[in-house]
Amino acid sequence: MNQKSKAKVGVVVAIILFVIIQLIPVERTNPPVSAEMPAPPHVREILKRSCYDCHSNETVWPWYSRVAPASWLVSRDVTEGRKELNVSEWDRYNERRRAKKMREIWKEVDKGDMPLRIYLPMHPNAKLTEKDKQALHEWVVASGAQEKP
Ligand code: HEC
Repeated sequence: MNQKSKAKVGVVVAIILFVIIQLIPVERTNPPVSAEMPAPPHVREILKRSCYDCHSNETVWPWYSRVAPASWLVSRDVTEGRKELNVSEWDRYNERRRAKKMREIWKEVDKGDMPLRIYLPMHPNAKLTEKDKQALHEWVVASGAQEKP
């Protein structure tokens, strides 16, 4: 085979592989909301815009969540995100866990670790402004869950 036919075979193999990986099932579920985390409307708006896609049962699955291999990453982030914090299943946490989750929310936001960086290019609105961060901080402090000194 000459160089040119080798390249053609390479392209065909890549296309076949791409088609085959689309057949691998990917979980994209939105289970029912059992209890929403209590938050005033202006805070809920921030959480909805920046966090709900990975930390609630109301994920808006983007088009690229239907195309492997991107779909694998999105599905993994949502599964792991929900496992860590699910604002749609707030009733499953006891008082202590709720306070801990509230503290973790502020810790992640303060460090700038959430929302995940990989999410931002496709969701520029999710980037938290200083004002958003301040509102989240006031909400966590008002909940009484603030970090112990
Ligand atoms: C693109 C998906 C995505 C978005 C958007 C997102 N998160 Fe996360 N979050 C994750 C994943 C995945 C984890 C678990 C792995 C990790 O900690 O990095 C996580 C973990 C967390 C944790 C637990 C951290 C710990 O280990 O203590 C908190 C709290 C959290 N996120 C809060 C938020 C808040 C608040 C927002 C919105 C401002 C947000 N996340 C937005 C995906 C996301």
